[in-house]
Order: sequence, then C-alpha cells, then structure tokens
Amino acid sequence: MSQNTLTITDNRTGKTYELPIKNGTIRAMDLRQIKVDAEDFGMMTYDPAFTNTASCISKITYIDGDRGILMYRGYPIEELAEKSSYLETSYLVLHGELPTRAQLDEWTWNITHHTFIHESIRKFLDGFHYDAHPMGILISTVAALSTFYKDAKNIFDPESRRKQTFRLIGKMPTLSAFAYRHSLGMPLAYPDNDLSYAGNFLNMLFRTTEAKYKPNPVLEHALDVLFILHADHEQNCSANAMRSVGSSHVDPYSAIAAATAALYGPLHGGANEEVLLMLREIGSVKNVPDYIKRVKAKEKLLMGFGHRVYKNYDPRAKIIKKIAYDVFEVMGKNPLIDIALECERIALSDDYFISHKLYPNVDFYSGLIYEAMGFPASMFTALFAIGRTSGWIAQWQELLLDPEQKIARPRQVYLGYDKRSYIPIDHR
Ligand code: ACO
Repeated sequence: MSQNTLTITDNRTGKTYELPIKNGTIRAMDLRQIKVDAEDFGMMTYDPAFTNTASCISKITYIDGDRGILMYRGYPIEELAEKSSYLETSYLVLHGELPTRAQLDEWTWNITHHTFIHESIRKFLDGFHYDAHPMGILISTVAALSTFYKDAKNIFDPESRRKQTFRLIGKMPTLSAFAYRHSLGMPLAYPDNDLSYAGNFLNMLFRTTEAKYKPNPVLEHALDVLFILHADHEQNCSANAMRSVGSSHVDPYSAIAAATAALYGPLHGGANEEVLLMLREIGSVKNVPDYIKRVKAKEKLLMGFGHRVYKNYDPRAKIIKKIAYDVFEVMGKNPLIDIALECERIALSDDYFISHKLYPNVDFYSGLIYEAMGFPASMFTALFAIGRTSGWIAQWQELLLDPEQKIARPRQVYLGYDKRSYIPIDHR
C-alpha cells in the first residue's frame, strides 16, 4: 500500500477505500465513490465557511497563521514593507517576480497614465447623497467602469487583462478620493501624474488652493507601506468573492465590485472603521476593563482582534503599530492610541483571549493612523480596497489560467421538506 494514501473504511458497508494524498490534501471528488448502494449520490464533505477546504492551488501568498508569517511570492512582508514600494510590490504580486528597473519604470508609467476616469463616471457622483458611504460609491463606480471598457470582456486575451490591470490599479484611488470629496461637497482634485502613487492619492484627497500639492513625505511613505501590507492575503472573504464571481467569466470590474462589497463588511475590511467606533465608544483608558468584561460575556466583539488564519500576532499589525508613531510625530498623537494599547495589554494577558488565540489583526492599528492622517472613519475600508486591488487581480488571473478551475458552485445538504402538494390559500 502506498504511504501517500488515506484508507477509509465505511462502517455502513464495511467497504474500504484508498484515496491518494497530494500536498496534504485529499480530493473531495474522490469521496464520491463512497456509497451505501447504487442509488446513493456518494459521500460529500460538509464545511460551512470553508474552514478546512482548499478551493485552489495558489503561488501568490503564503501565511503561517501559527507562527505569524506572511510572504508575497516568497518575500517576507517585513522586508517588503521596509525596502519595497507599493507599485513594485503590486508588480511582484501580479507577475511573480520583482521587476527590473526598466520593468518597474514601465509599470509605474502605465499605472500613472490610467488614473483619470471618464467624466461621465464623475457625473454619477452627483446622484449620491452628501452622506453616502464612500464604500457604497466605490462599489458602484468600479462596477460602472465595465460599461466604459467593453474590451474588458475579453478575459482570456492577455493584452486585455494587462490593460484592465493598469486601469483598475490606477483608477481605484481616483474613485475613492472622488467619493471622499463628494462627501465634503468639495470640488474634485484631479490626478497629478508627477506624484507617486500614494502622493497622488493624498493630492486628490487633500489638495485645496495650492497650485501644486506637495505631499508630506512621512505620510506619503506611511500610506505606501499600508498599501503594501494590504496588497494580498490569500483566500480571504473578498479574494474568495473575486474568484467565485470571476469564475463565471464576468469582466474584472464587475468581479472587483463584488470583492469590494465583500471587503466592506465589518467582519472583514470594514473592521478598521469599527475599531475606531469601538475605541470612541470606550472613550477612556479607565473604561477598558469594563469593555473587556462585556467582550468576555459575549455581549461585544473586540473589533480588530481575532483572525481565521492567524492564531498568533498578525505580522502586519506589528508593522502598522510601528508606523503609527512616525505618523503621530508629524500629525500629533491620536488620543485613542492609549485606549488601544490598554485593550491590547489586557487582552494579551487575559485567559479568554489567550485560550481563544485572539491577537490584534491588521485592522486594529490601521484606523488610528488613518485618523491621525486626517481621514474620516468612513474612508478606512476604501484605503484597504486600493491596496488589495492588485491582490484581487492576481487571484483572478491565477483562477483564469488554472485548467482545473471551473465555475464555482458548491453543493448543499438539503434538509427541507420532501415533496408535498400545493395547499389552496383558503385551506391554510
Ligand atoms: N472578540 C471576542 N471574541 C472573539 C473575537 C473577537 N474579536 N473573535 C473571535 N472571538 C471568539 C468567538 O466568540 C469564538 O468563541 P467561542 O469558541 O467561545 O464561541 C472564538 O473566538 C472563535 O471565533 P470565530 O468567530 O468562530 O472565528 P472565525 O475564524 O470564524 O472569525 C473573525 C474570524 C471574523 C475575524 C473574528 O475573529 C471576528 O469577528 N473578529 C472581529 C472582527 C475583525 O477584526 N475582523 C477583521 C479580520 S482581519 C480582515 O479581515 C482584514
């Protein structure tokens, strides 16, 4: 008997099956042969929320949740955060290798020259209420881009995918910044191609009367690092949405709209906004123990804590905590940091959090930096979406080029009624 197999005995029938093991997995379809009789559909696995199911083979991002390790294409996140730039990292995530100088220059030029959006998209903004959430605007406007770029439907044409990649990475900051300016009722600030990716984003957000906006280099660098930290995170909820929707072969703008919508939820990228609201609700360091008590009584979640994969400190949270102090030096300390530190201090020494392996995740400190930089809480998740766009596209492309992938279509365990007859309304 080969050692790379799993032997299963079905005690209902006494039959034994030998299933091959590859990469530490068995194929779910290999279970289908396990039947009690010829009429039986065959064995399936039941895995709500995919807690133990690999849906793809990927070469993009590696996470070791127990040891707190995150790598893009084999490069540790700590090294990329220290030495790379967001555009270089997005090239790496999408192409698999770091670019040469010439490749990086071309990549940067192409993204920088796809930052403008069609004026008709700009007009959509006028239809939104002044207090519309930027994520709602972002989801709608990125989906609307598909109506402007008909070539985006040619998803198996590498040249078309390349073009949509430039457009998506280039335009996500523009759409987000326009959503923000709309909420303030301020005239829109158009992209400035002389600035870096992060610098231009700050320009579109904060430029007022100056002829030429000069981003503060500390804030520009901090934002660029935050984009790097958010570039990809393997099969999370929004990447799964991107792959699942993309598997129907829809255009990438519609799939990115779905991924952005998935990110918006408070259990995923929306948590950074929720953390800020929570810290404000706690209000003062002296109220932290009482809040933690309510978390332990399951009345509340400690937002920004816990992760499906990390059962150790999220390496991104460590890097973000460090950058927070660089930003505070320029912008002044965010008073909520003391409440956050106290939450972390108590949580990391409390049995409930230790036994549940709950540590700060990426969202715990990112909101504090964003707030210190002058962003309102409603913009936090849009900032996440900008960084994650390159990862979503990489996941989508990997899916399209994988011959084993098909339209995503899970099975269900049906426990509803058997066949029954329609009852006329007067007899119910
Ligand atoms: N505060 C208090 N208790 C928590 C928290 C938390 N933040 N997170 C998990 N738990 C507890 C659960 O109540 C559960 O306890 P039990 O076993 O006693 O019933 C246990 O830990 C396991 O939690 P699950 O919800 O089953 O874990 P899951 O892997 O499904 O959820 C999630 C992960 C959604 C991130 C969860 O930890 C959470 O809701 N955190 C707060 C929201 C958040 O910060 N989300 C951002 C995640 S990072 C990202 O998406 C970018």
